[in-house]
Amino acid sequence: MSHTQQVPERVQHNRRYLMCRPEHFTVSYSINPWMDPEEPTDTSLAVRQWQKLYDTYIELGHEVELIDPQPGLPDMVYTANGGFLIDGVAYPPKFRYEERQGEEPWFTQWFRDSGYEVSGPEFTNEGEGDFLLAGDVILAGRGFRSTDDSHRELETIFGREVVTLTLTDPRFYHLDTALSVLDPVVAPGQEPTIAYLPGAFDEASRAELERRFPNAIHVSDADGAVFGLNSASDGKHVFISPRATGFEKQLRERGYTPVLIDLSELLLGGGGIKCCTLELRGKSA
Ligand code: ARG
Repeated sequence: MSHTQQVPERVQHNRRYLMCRPEHFTVSYSINPWMDPEEPTDTSLAVRQWQKLYDTYIELGHEVELIDPQPGLPDMVYTANGGFLIDGVAYPPKFRYEERQGEEPWFTQWFRDSGYEVSGPEFTNEGEGDFLLAGDVILAGRGFRSTDDSHRELETIFGREVVTLTLTDPRFYHLDTALSVLDPVVAPGQEPTIAYLPGAFDEASRAELERRFPNAIHVSDADGAVFGLNSASDGKHVFISPRATGFEKQLRERGYTPVLIDLSELLLGGGGIKCCTLELRGKSA
């Protein structure tokens, strides 16, 4: 007799995101292994692909705010690095590389103008690229960009437990390239489902993830290598790269609805769907 496991019903939670149209996108320097300034980029294609992601969010009922792209800041499209926000408090970035430091005042100003309380930063950190809210805790990446000091600063500012995870593969230099939180909202004390690429972490971090998230989806190297984990989720729809076919299947098995969005041009800068999407978590009522 076959045993059918019950697939949970997934519920959409409307999100509020910050995005930046890649009008000035190009690859003119290299600060991660994906970026090759010799390889030509097509800005209009980048804009079209980005627009598809934007339109899809809107069609599904999400709210998307926009920050003006600035000339000379080609990586500004990756708004996930523009900060980390919980309950109306924004922690702005302090970029590791000079090439991106010019973005800092633009994001900080946008948060202020939009009514967020700005706190910090004192230490090098790249926002939601390295910090992901998972239920009650903040998962925080280290190894390539954000520093240990920033993890402590986060803990102080947000008063939440910060779980430090060490990234070891230069291709997956930000936490959001190796790990995805699939349930943006869970009941207090409940664990969200997460997905991650075990090979991107050191042994201690893998053990920590295993202990805290025993039901996590382990994604294959093949799906990780096409930035499958650089995805956004509203709790029902998971926005992923069409190349991550194995992950797509795993998501369906868990009751999620994969929505395929191709950002191949933005991958030339080392970023994907999540990188282009910053969660604006306002004051909870
Ligand atoms: N070129 C950018 C950088 O290296 C890509 C950032 C990708 N963003 C992300 N959230 N993973 O900083």
